Amino acid sequence: MKYQEILKTAKDELSQAPDTNALYQVRVRYLGKNGTITSLMKELKNLSPEKRPAFGQQINELKNAIEEHYQNRKKTLKKSEISHEVSKDFLDLSLPGPTPKGGAFHPIEQIIQKTSSIFTHLGYKKVSGPLIETDWYNFSALNIPPDHPSRDNQDTFYLDSEHLLRTHTSPVQIRSLERLKPPLAIIAPGAVFRRDEIDSSHSPHFHQMEGLFIDRKVSMSHLKGTLSYFLKELQGSSAKIRFRPSFFPFTEPSAEYDSSCFICKGKGCSLCKGTGWIEIGGCGLVHPQVLKASEVNPEKWQGFAFGMGMDRLALLEYGIPDIRLFYENRMSFLEQFENALFF
Ligand code: PHE
Repeated sequence: MKYQEILKTAKDELSQAPDTNALYQVRVRYLGKNGTITSLMKELKNLSPEKRPAFGQQINELKNAIEEHYQNRKKTLKKSEISHEVSKDFLDLSLPGPTPKGGAFHPIEQIIQKTSSIFTHLGYKKVSGPLIETDWYNFSALNIPPDHPSRDNQDTFYLDSEHLLRTHTSPVQIRSLERLKPPLAIIAPGAVFRRDEIDSSHSPHFHQMEGLFIDRKVSMSHLKGTLSYFLKELQGSSAKIRFRPSFFPFTEPSAEYDSSCFICKGKGCSLCKGTGWIEIGGCGLVHPQVLKASEVNPEKWQGFAFGMGMDRLALLEYGIPDIRLFYENRMSFLEQFENALFF
């Protein structure tokens, strides 16, 4: 009898059976009614009586050996089947759950929060005004004469003869002078609208921040000190400020102010077009006519006002090349600001 050969193939087949069902099929083939062992038994009667006992004993040993292998393999398979089933149904409550995606502030909102906090730490109060304004608040009360070019249809979105989308945050100066008694110090960040062609640095919808400070005996040096402090807080103590004479109907004298370049710090680079300076906004001492329009006595009170473009600051602060990215709301762009700091 090929005892060893049968035992080896039986063992191989048993240990390769992938599950208890397949294993049972192997057992049937060897130990079942029509199995290998049974057919060996049948051969017994063809043998001479002297040979039968030894042969019979071999068959028995073979049978027991196969049975033993079968039982061992069955135990192993059962164990892994049970643990597989357990892992399928078992809910491990101690595992950390999926992390929900956090929201984030829009980069414009982040720069508004950052710049506002520099002024609120100085004691400025953050206020806001309506986006739909009247001609009075947007122009007339700010001493902008009826024929001033900024009233042109080209620049202003008129809703009707009286209402318009505010073209700057300066009308909040008037609203604050009316509502709050001087002395006062306010900042007013928010959206503004102009009929500008869209390109990499222009959008018909953008953001400004207005500042207004009213007290007794306020001079240009207070204005310069305040804006200089602001730029140093925003960019570090080496930041410098430069004033250039300018004109606004609601300030006298008026100036435009520049910051030393955010990138080259004044040496000259492509961002500042080699000049070393970056334009930030307009400013000046509040025109007596503006104070009068809000029934504040210009003999008693003076003040300074300034405006700055938030979009431009955000472009500079985050190194963004195109203002349109702020308004297209592409997730791949916005997601980059999820971890940015805000104040
Ligand atoms: N409102 C002006 C503008 O939009 C900026 C400005 C604000 C100038 C306050 C002087 C004082 O350009």
